[in-house]
Amino acid sequence: MKTRIAVLVSGGGTNLQALIDAQRRGELPDGEIVLVVSNNPNAYALERAKSAGIETAVCARPDMERKLIDTLEAHSIEMMILAGFMAILSRDFVTRWPDRIINIHPSLIPSFCGEGFYGLRVHQAALDYGVKVTGATVHYVNEIPDGGRIICQKAVDIQDGDTPEVLQRRVMEQAEWLLLPRAAQIVAQRIRSESGE
Ligand code: GRF
Repeated sequence: MKTRIAVLVSGGGTNLQALIDAQRRGELPDGEIVLVVSNNPNAYALERAKSAGIETAVCARPDMERKLIDTLEAHSIEMMILAGFMAILSRDFVTRWPDRIINIHPSLIPSFCGEGFYGLRVHQAALDYGVKVTGATVHYVNEIPDGGRIICQKAVDIQDGDTPEVLQRRVMEQAEWLLLPRAAQIVAQRIRSESGE
């Protein structure tokens, strides 16, 4: 048996693509992405999922969480990966799946994270501060935004003349796309071993 994974997205889905590619290469042996859910019906990530033959669903406001819970339960989802999912999940939602939801954040937590730090704002904040190293973090999701236990991190150098856009791309290429599939396998394997298989 493989851990049944749903990937939650809102946008372009390059991290979803990295997961799909890793799965194809056999790098996610203990998990299977069975569903991609978006809160945005126009997310390009949905096209990526369809091209890969993965079932998709849209759960948008109002009542997004109710729709999400129904959809996840209908697909017997055991683990969720937030891959550029731009909505904050409530305490009630996240406590239903303790240590079963992971998120990727484009900085080295605890720097440049928490409420208001998303997208290019994270990279802008790193450049404004003047740090010389940034990176990405995969962590468990709890009720505190970007506050759950860290699973893995990877550092990326900042270079002179970086713009938020250039830095965002480097962090994705050198950290996010490698880290997220690795973390997905670690958690999928843990869930399998806890279920006694
Ligand atoms: C990534 O930078 C991720 O770290 C952040 O949102 C962005 C999503 O990009 N949480 P994509 O949709 O995976 O291309």
